[in-house]
Amino acid sequence: MTETPHKMSARGVSVFYGDKQAVKDVSIDIAMDKVTAFIGPSGCGKSTFLRTLNRMNDTIPSARVTGDIMLDGENIYSSAMDVVQLRARVGMVFQKPNPFPKSIYENVAYGPRIHGLAPSKPDLDAIVERSLKRAGLWEEVKDRLQDSGTALSGGQQQRLCIARAIAVDPEVILMDEPASALDPIATAKIEELIHELRGRYAIAIVTHNMQQAARVSQRTAFFHLGTLVEYGDTDQIFTTPREERTKDYITGRYG
Ligand SMILES: Nc1ncnc2c1ncn2[C@@H]1O[C@H](COP(=O)(O)OP(=O)(O)O)[C@@H](O)[C@H]1O
Ligand SMILES: [Mg+2]
Repeated sequence: MTETPHKMSARGVSVFYGDKQAVKDVSIDIAMDKVTAFIGPSGCGKSTFLRTLNRMNDTIPSARVTGDIMLDGENIYSSAMDVVQLRARVGMVFQKPNPFPKSIYENVAYGPRIHGLAPSKPDLDAIVERSLKRAGLWEEVKDRLQDSGTALSGGQQQRLCIARAIAVDPEVILMDEPASALDPIATAKIEELIHELRGRYAIAIVTHNMQQAARVSQRTAFFHLGTLVEYGDTDQIFTTPREERTKDYITGRYG
């Protein structure tokens, strides 16, 4: 793999739900300037591992995480880490678009307001506009910012959720199958957006769609039964996988 600065590093990460182990001893580096795709069959621990990167598993009572995860060299599981701050720095977009039942404006303005990023109304307006522009949604909503976010189409709602994540100036954006509930046109827009966001944010995306992984990512991590089987440049993973299990998966021998 080509050398590149690491934004996040996981070392020996395991996740348990009660006494069932869902993620087994995963070590991986997430690059600053690349999109990293997590692929693998359903139930192999992709979402569980993704959630360790911003401590979203903290919200699941039975979940327990061991190992170390560093963000810019700082352990995010240390007691000194402010989890609210962490989740602004490492934002997340879920499979099902989940805008708040509030206006489009409010969906984007909420985070910057509670994080104190906008001292005045014009500052807040500017953040909302910039975030919606970066999420590729501004032109479609600029004349109806007071309409409800939930009245938008599914694809627009997902871009609104991306704008909401962007609004608090994250360093990393985690996406868990962000297009799996969307039609092909809305999916293409999300993929295009991921291209545009690359470089500004470190991006990790879970997808069970291998074509999507090949299109949007520069690095691919293949998970199977809770373990990280292989991690490399996306081209290499899809053309010359080193592991038999990776080869079997990408050639469709198992789902
Ligand atoms: N909240 C939960 N409680 C208990 N088990 C869970 C929970 N979430 C996921 N699991 C289990 O952990 C394993 C990995 O799931 P998940 O991370 O969702 O896989 P993937 O995203 O690859 O489909 C599965 O066996 C799943 O049933
Ligand atoms: Mg999942």
